Amino acid sequence: MDTNCKNNPYPFFNELPCSLKVLYTMVLLTMGMGYLFAMIQIYEVHSGRDGGSSLSVKDIQIAYSGNKEGSRMEGALKGPMSSMLPADEKEKIISWIHGGNDQKKFEETIKPIMETRCKACHDGSNPHLPNLTTYDGVKGTTAVDTGVSISTLVRVSHIHLFGLTFIFFMVGKIFSHAYFAKRWLKCAVMATPFVAIFLDVGSWWVTKVSEPFAYVVIIGGALMGVSFAIQWTVSLYQMWIYKGPPAGKATIE
Ligand code: HEC
Repeated sequence: MDTNCKNNPYPFFNELPCSLKVLYTMVLLTMGMGYLFAMIQIYEVHSGRDGGSSLSVKDIQIAYSGNKEGSRMEGALKGPMSSMLPADEKEKIISWIHGGNDQKKFEETIKPIMETRCKACHDGSNPHLPNLTTYDGVKGTTAVDTGVSISTLVRVSHIHLFGLTFIFFMVGKIFSHAYFAKRWLKCAVMATPFVAIFLDVGSWWVTKVSEPFAYVVIIGGALMGVSFAIQWTVSLYQMWIYKGPPAGKATIE
């Protein structure tokens, strides 16, 4: 048998058993939902760090390389923690930081806010969250923001490298049954997310020291999204609607 890539028989979507198509469809639908929630999560975590309400390049720069004009506490109060307390209490905390973190004032005005609004999650029991029940704990978050910590980057990087590889391996494996008139295009669509993962994760690290790389973070994320969307749509379309490739192409891919 000829095992040459050109003549290797490999079924197109319309040649697959129905049971496999049902499984593939369910996997794709679930992953599509997962992708939507991932987008919402990115928005929730990063938007608003720069003071505006939407997600901007500046938000990404602040997340990774820090904010020269503010502390981690200020970034959190404007961004991910902004819904945890009313605006007047936010102002109190920010003016306390700008006023030089006085301990006596902390006990009088800041500690009560932390106890009612923040203690539920920031009581020191979770090692990844700053402890906001003590003066020292809060003070630790008021130094000038140097961006995401190395330990957080290591944690998030390995989760993304493993997690995204699983996702794009599964999606790519399903998509490999698609018919594309141009084989190089099909291969490019499949390879793109892996290049994008490198760009994305790699540029988090570089953005930590060089802010312009925030654009690479965004380009990486966008490439991944476009490739996911193409593979998802083409796979579902060819499985259930498309009648199969032109005659004579049936076993070439
Ligand atoms: C419902 C749980 C919850 C409550 C309540 C909460 N936080 Fe958080 N906080 C988190 C989580 C989870 C993170 C880490 C994820 C993130 O950075 O978005 C975090 C992170 C932070 C950080 C670190 C941000 C960084 O850049 O490292 C600060 C500072 C912070 N919170 C302040 C507060 C303050 C102040 C309050 C009260 C007004 C508060 N949080 C209330 C869950 C909570």
